[in-house]
Amino acid sequence: MAKQIRIENVFKVFGDQPKQALDLVRQGLSKQQILERTGQSIGVFDADFTIEAGEIFVVMGLSGSGKSTLVRMLNRLIEPTSGRIVVDGQDINGLNDQDLRALRRKDISMVFQSFALMPHMTVLDNTAFGLEMAGVDKGTRQKAAQEALEQVGLGAWGASYPDELSGGMQQRVGLARALASDPSILLMDEAFSALDPIIRTEMQSELLRLQESKRRTIVFISHDLDEAMRIGDRIAIMKDGQVIQVGTPDEILRSPANDYVRSFIKGVDAAAVFKASDIARQALTIVSEHSDRGCRAALRLIEDSDRDHAYVLNARRRLLGVVSAQSLRDALHGREGMLGLQHAFIDNVVPIDAATPVADLFGPMASAPCPLPVLGEDRKFLGVISRTTMMRFLDRDTPPVPPPQPVQPPVTLNPMFPTGDADTPAMLHEHSDAPATDKENKHE
Ligand SMILES: Nc1ncnc2c1ncn2[C@@H]1O[C@H](COP(=O)(O)OP(=O)(O)OP(=O)(O)O)[C@@H](O)[C@H]1O
Ligand SMILES: [Mg+2]
Repeated sequence: MAKQIRIENVFKVFGDQPKQALDLVRQGLSKQQILERTGQSIGVFDADFTIEAGEIFVVMGLSGSGKSTLVRMLNRLIEPTSGRIVVDGQDINGLNDQDLRALRRKDISMVFQSFALMPHMTVLDNTAFGLEMAGVDKGTRQKAAQEALEQVGLGAWGASYPDELSGGMQQRVGLARALASDPSILLMDEAFSALDPIIRTEMQSELLRLQESKRRTIVFISHDLDEAMRIGDRIAIMKDGQVIQVGTPDEILRSPANDYVRSFIKGVDAAAVFKASDIARQALTIVSEHSDRGCRAALRLIEDSDRDHAYVLNARRRLLGVVSAQSLRDALHGREGMLGLQHAFIDNVVPIDAATPVADLFGPMASAPCPLPVLGEDRKFLGVISRTTMMRFLDRDTPPVPPPQPVQPPVTLNPMFPTGDADTPAMLHEHSDAPATDKENKHE
């Protein structure tokens, strides 16, 4: 069971005059000024937030901002100067030595940037090392270590020695060692920072996969915003010992709390972080229940709403096709009477899967005949992406993602809409989505 961690007004001052240092912080002196004046170093200043059970919580900040200090207080490798750390309702500052050891053995494991694997011990024994220290018997600890190695893809390497493994594999052994005690909380201090980029991405995926099979509360320190955005359910950004902002990657990108946070997210590769569904805009949609008629009504609807395209859906919001004013006119040309919308569908519209990273949309968008429909689970229509939407997204002076738009309920038009044309559909809903004046869906 993953556990929740409450961090309540936690301070850490390194030095023997913590009170004096904290008073000066309250008076507005900077960390540097306090250090110069008193020799006291502010590690963490008034951290107060909750890490939810089962989330990956990433702590970011420049070097010296207090990340390691904060995380080490969670298992009391560092004692807070004041404040409470509450793990699943239990204040861990009150634990005696024995209970504290039990907490570190059973509940909280830590993974560091570099693990000192013992060169003369096998990978299996290295993995079982923490359990051995905790006095677990040989049979039990070897079984647990083997299972942990299997979880990180090293099941076949137990009998090898560390120097037979690549750096990335050694890092996996470190992770396996932490997993061997099956902890509910994993603290990872720059655990992937020393790895080269490809291995690092692999390890991130590995961690996400592990998280799928069994949810743990993971506190992950990183310098790398792309890493934070990729794996973090939420992110905390620290500066000079203070937690400046806590939020989901989305919240932080959308509304950075101040210039410090803004400078952090400037470099983020938003196109790799955001998915098609994040930037999809609403569009004019027509719910068509009668496929044999509707062209004239649809043309009227498109003209009246001053749009270029409409997305034809069935009653379950599955995409049937896309029509434009031009395609409707072409289909109707020289015809009398009812004409099904399918006669006016535009060719070569390749829908985009909702999970596609924005970075992968450039190719499809370049050759798209219209704003492309984005489909979610069960091929449900979620909205469209136009070339204009893409340009806006890439223009980093504007927020990378539009603020959430209110979804208006579909408007059911008079069944005889618009004027009783011969092909008026029995049901024609308009879902002319907000904002009504939005011209962005125009495909320029
Ligand atoms: N044992 C210590 N004694 C005195 N000062 C310390 C001690 N440990 C940390 N500090 C100070 O506390 C502040 C926060 O350090 P911390 O190691 O938590 O930063 P960090 O964000 O983890 O940095 P990095 O990214 O470089 O690992 C720094 O100013 C550091 O000098
Ligand atoms: Mg650190």
